[in-house]
Amino acid sequence: MKRFLMCEPKFFEVCYVINPWMEGNQGKVNSDLAKRQWNNLHDIVAKLASVDLVEPVAGLPDMVFTANAGLIHKNDVIVSSFRHAERQPEAKLFEAFFSSQGYRVLHLQEKTIFEGAGDALFDSQGRLWFGSGIRSESHALGEIVDALNAGEPDVEVCGLELIDPHWYHLDTAFCPLPEGQAIAYAKAFAGKSVAALDHAFGDNILWVSEHDARNFACNAISIGQSIILHKTSAELKSALKQRGFEIIETDVSEFLKAGGACKCLTLET
Ligand code: ARG
Repeated sequence: MKRFLMCEPKFFEVCYVINPWMEGNQGKVNSDLAKRQWNNLHDIVAKLASVDLVEPVAGLPDMVFTANAGLIHKNDVIVSSFRHAERQPEAKLFEAFFSSQGYRVLHLQEKTIFEGAGDALFDSQGRLWFGSGIRSESHALGEIVDALNAGEPDVEVCGLELIDPHWYHLDTAFCPLPEGQAIAYAKAFAGKSVAALDHAFGDNILWVSEHDARNFACNAISIGQSIILHKTSAELKSALKQRGFEIIETDVSEFLKAGGACKCLTLET
């Protein structure tokens, strides 16, 4: 059974702007609605997987986005080192949580910016896709390879370049699915990265429309044949159904105001 880490939105709000979606949304989060939406997502995930919780901390509104806590591989976790001062204090808190859970905590070089599973996603073949250019730094790739392969070298890491600040984390524009499948939004990536994804996934990658991308359709949680996401067009839904997936839509509108949706609210552990 898959396992996910989530963090209750007790202190969630938009009170600074570190991505384009947050612009104009300061003070606009409906906290009660956010809590209901988060509870709904939690209950959906908890029916299909087990869910652990990390304690939220006042003053760290984006801590709900546990995807950025770190990158988990087996019993190792590479803890994040956030680009923006507003999120930097989260790193130590997540690190303490992972230590308390018995993970071996790994760090990249002191100054290397790396935003965890927001920018690093394993596909169904065990390849790690790493997105850089907006948040995580491209040179983190080599350090991730070294960290993960220090024991038995087994992880192949493929770099992708993100080029549009709206798609600032890899998980906003790319979602690997079971059996070598994936969905992605092409305009988020440099041409060579689109080519790399095409080459790796062939007909098994579904390129989503701008409309679906803006509804964070790529920010999806994949559990078995189920795909949990905020919203999808009829076209994307039917294309995914044809590929054997069951789509579960759940409204996370309040979190979109901070530039995040379903997948960023979880970390697969
Ligand atoms: N406001 C948060 C930030 O800009 C949202 C993070 C969403 N996380 C993600 N993995 N896409 O950092």
